[in-house]
Order: sequence, then structure tokens, then C-alpha cells
Amino acid sequence: MEKGRENVVLFPFMAEGHIILFLAFALHITQMGYSVTFVNTPLNIKKLRESFPPGSSSIKLFEIPFNSSDHGLPPDSEDTDVLPYSLSLRLLEASLHLKLPLRKLLRDLIEEHGVKPVCVISDLFFGWAADVAHELGIFHAIFSITGGFGMACYCSVWLNLPHKDTECVEFQLPDFPEAGIFHVTQLTQSMLLAGEEDSFTNFQRRNIRAWSNADAFIFNTVEELDKTGLMYFRRKLGIPVYGIGPILLSDQDRATSSRETTISAEECVEWLDKKEANSVIYISFGSQNTISASQMMNLAKALDASGRSFIWVVRPPLGFDINAEFEAEQWLPEGYVQRIHDQDRGQIVSKWAPQVEILAHKSVALFLSHCGWNSVLEALKNGVPLIGWPMAAEQFYNAKLLVEEVGVCVEVARGTSFDVRQEDIMEKIELVMGENEKGKEIRQRSWKIKQVVRDAVRDEENYKGSSVKAMQEFFTTALLKKEQAVGTASSGINQ
Ligand SMILES: *[C@@H]1O[C@H](CO)[C@@H](O)[C@H](O)[C@H]1NC(C)=O
Repeated sequence: MEKGRENVVLFPFMAEGHIILFLAFALHITQMGYSVTFVNTPLNIKKLRESFPPGSSSIKLFEIPFNSSDHGLPPDSEDTDVLPYSLSLRLLEASLHLKLPLRKLLRDLIEEHGVKPVCVISDLFFGWAADVAHELGIFHAIFSITGGFGMACYCSVWLNLPHKDTECVEFQLPDFPEAGIFHVTQLTQSMLLAGEEDSFTNFQRRNIRAWSNADAFIFNTVEELDKTGLMYFRRKLGIPVYGIGPILLSDQDRATSSRETTISAEECVEWLDKKEANSVIYISFGSQNTISASQMMNLAKALDASGRSFIWVVRPPLGFDINAEFEAEQWLPEGYVQRIHDQDRGQIVSKWAPQVEILAHKSVALFLSHCGWNSVLEALKNGVPLIGWPMAAEQFYNAKLLVEEVGVCVEVARGTSFDVRQEDIMEKIELVMGENEKGKEIRQRSWKIKQVVRDAVRDEENYKGSSVKAMQEFFTTALLKKEQAVGTASSGINQ
């Protein structure tokens, strides 16, 4: 710890998506004048060290002992993103064993620094961390890398399993009626399999219930867009809830060593520069998702028939290794890539695209997205309307928020087990990009939201955005608690 700087301990879950977003959060925190102790398991820390800029950083990496072989996992399994689903669940359960190591680590830190950290901020999968921090008299908060509304629906479904009580395809959430009507197609595979006897259900419920032990809940979101979701947690947990986003990833953050590029940011921008303003569709389902082979075929045909320009980040369809080479001849219509290339209509990019640069470019008019939260924030920040195709986790509810409350999105499909008609995709593209009332409304709304998102992080002498204020308020509260704790301890000695 640098002298004079208050220290914050950050502890993300062992998944690349969580770790890189916590790292972006860590940078944000150091810019406020704090130092950060960044905790993770040995292999993740090793990976971070390799990519970490050396020198004067106020972020110190700290290893917590963990050996996956001790938990029935393959050796060196410390990242859910590279594990099959069943083993991801085991890694989640294994993470419960980090309780004692975390306590020891915090004790060691206090001894080394001579003072307690201001707070421990843990991942939402580590609800138990509150108890560990409190044992040592440390303020504890949870940081959610996803938004309030999406997480609220997700939690409510796990706690209540409302779809199990009805034969209907539609249902409501008993403790979150404000969220409206849900359809069974908005449930993940694991939610459909959930039940009292199911170990993942029990893990989720135990974890969510532990959240009310935290002292605060921080969301990577913007209060003005996400009031309903944040309200749910304020009501449910009875603790302060802060929207402090958007914390965004840079293209550099997103480009991990395992994902070589097929197009550079410069090439991409150069190509976009030649296109008319608001004329290009950007399509990406994130690094963890893909669609079925028949869906991919129909999407390809729809993009072709739409006559519009596009950048499409393709991944092998379901049933193939997601990180395998993309075989265009096998998975796209015959001669497709050549024709698109000859017409200079599109860029078919495998593995990785410079998404931040693309969404910020004035030629981009539309984002066909899986509605992962980071992609959503990036689109909103740039005023790009969306076509939603949610596939997993809380993505279904992110899409619901964007369609029903924010008004910047239409949904075209859900998941990968239904056929998606070429005509439906074309219709949605025309709806958002074409000259019609609904399209105009969505585009205007996107422009308005862009300002809301940018205002939230404005930090000027005469204006502080909601996210800036929330972050300051959070630290004021945490520091106050720390001083009070010190006051109590010293008066104890005096007596
Ligand atoms: C993890 O445990 C296994 C089995 O006990 C052992 O062979 C291996 O060396 C351990 N790995 C580390 C990194 O300590």
C-alpha cells in the first residue's frame, strides 16, 4: 500500500468476464485516490501479472490459495469461462472453501499495513464474504457487474421459482410485480431444471440470502435507467444500493491473449469511414455465446436480403468448440463470404472485433446483440439502438428492460432452441433502421439515453452526475464506519 492512501480490497469471482470488469472498477477506484488490493486464485493472478503494466500502479495483486484438484475439478481449473457448465457449478461450490483463506489474507493485510482496509468489495457470487469481513470489523460491499433490473429478475426467479407453480407460459414475480409479465422463453436452462432438490438452486438461494448481510450493494449501472431494479434491492435487502456505472471495458481489456484478431481496429475504422452515417449493422453475441447452425444460416440470409452493410462477429455454431476456427464454407450459404466481400457489403470477423471503436463510430446504426450487460452499456453510451437476442443468464431481463422501460430495443429471438425466420430478422432490422414511426421513436430515444448515460459520470465543479455522487457517497459511508470502529476500539482500551 502506498503511504497515506486508504486501501480497498477487491475480490471478483473466478471468471474472465468478472475479473476484467473488476479490474476496470479497480482503476476507477485508484483514480479516486485509493489503493487497491486485488485478490484472486493463483493462476488468475499469474495471468494478470503477465498482462499488467509494470511500475507505479496503485493496484496490488494478491494470491489467495486455491487448488482445483482438491475439489474434484480438473487440475488448473480456475476460470468458469473455460469449464463446461457442470464443472462451472462445481467451481462455484468450491469457492465456498475460500472463506478461511480470505480471513487469513485479510488478517495478513492488516498486519502488513498496520491499518484495516476501508472496505472489502466482493463479487455477488461471494455473498459469504460479508461475514468474513465483519468478523474483522471491516465494511463489506458487493459489486455486481450486471445491471439492477436484470439481476433483480434473475434473483427473484431463483428465490420464487414462479414458473413451477403454474401451467401457463406466462407468469409474474411475486416479490417484483413492477417487472411485469414474463414468458417461459425468458428462463435459462438451469432455471427450467430448478427445484428444491437441485444443488444449483440451493447454491443460488443461499448466496442471494447472504446479500442482506452486506453493508452496501454497488451496481455497474446508471440510476436514471435502472430505478426499478435498484428499488427491488433497496426494498429486499434493506441496505444502501448504489448505481455507479457505466464502468466500461476498453478494446484492450476485451482482447485477451487467447483471442487473436482477424481485423485490426484501424482496418475496421477505415472500412466504417467509407460508409454513410447510420448505415451499418453490428452483430455480436459476445465471447461466450453462439447460435444454432440453422439460426446462423437464416441470419446470414436475412443480412444479405436486407441490402444493408454489416460487421458480423461470427463463432462456430452450437455443437462445435466455440473457440475453433470458423468454417465459413460449412456454416454460411454457398459463396456468401466472397459475394459480401465483392460487394464490399460486410465484414465477417471471427473471434474478436474492436467493439468499442465500432459502437462509437457514426456509421453504425444498429447493434444486434445478446444483451450482455457490458455490450448494452456500450451501446447506450453511444446512442446505438439494439435488436435483442438474449441467450443466457440475466440477458433475457436486460432485453426486457431495454424494450419495456428504456425503449431503445426490439427483440428478435430468445435462446438457441427455436427457429428464427429470415423474414422476422429482416422485419426487425427495417423497424429500427427504416423510415417509420416506431423506428424514429427508438432512434430518438437512443439519442436521449446517450446523454443520460454520459451525464451520470460527469464530474465537474458545478455538476456531479448520479454515478459520481453515488461513488462518493459510498466511500463517505465506508470511511465513516471505519472511523467509528477505530473510535470504539480505542475507547475500549481506555476503559
Ligand atoms: C494441487 O494438488 C495436486 C494434488 O494434490 C498436486 O499434485 C498439485 O501439485 C497441486 N498444485 C499446486 C499448484 O499446488
